Amino acid sequence: MAEERTLSILKPDATRRGLTGTINAQFEEAGLRIIAQKRLRLTLKQAQGFYAVHAERAFYDDLCAYMTSGPVVVQVLEGEDAIAKNREIMGATNPKNAAEGTIRAKHGESVEANSVHGSDAPETAAFEIAYFFSAIELVG
Ligand code: CMP
Repeated sequence: MAEERTLSILKPDATRRGLTGTINAQFEEAGLRIIAQKRLRLTLKQAQGFYAVHAERAFYDDLCAYMTSGPVVVQVLEGEDAIAKNREIMGATNPKNAAEGTIRAKHGESVEANSVHGSDAPETAAFEIAYFFSAIELVG
């Protein structure tokens, strides 16, 4: 297993309910370090660019509108096997299918308002981290 970095987003349903600290604690308890973090209100263009890979999907417009509906917290998590580890901690995309104890099982409201996003592979992590952060903002 290698040291990795992954991009995480606490979505508008999480910031609305004041879950930033609770979710961050779950990351840190699992051994993931938060090496960069900022709270943003995304524009529609920023959300569309971030989720461009889903542009052909039926849920794309709703997803982009949702991601601009309130503040988000974007962050970079670092640790051993961080991409897979974060996906395990988040649980399945649909909170109804997420394993007990995962963030989406505990906090997710729907497949769209599922509290967190995490990169799914090294290539997407590189794109997604660079989308929000410059190298000098990553303090490992
Ligand atoms: P996320 O990990 O942010 O990546 C894309 C998002 O699209 C996903 O989490 C969901 O919140 C959202 N989404 C909405 N509808 C669907 C769907 N039918 N299948 C997959 N993802 C969906």
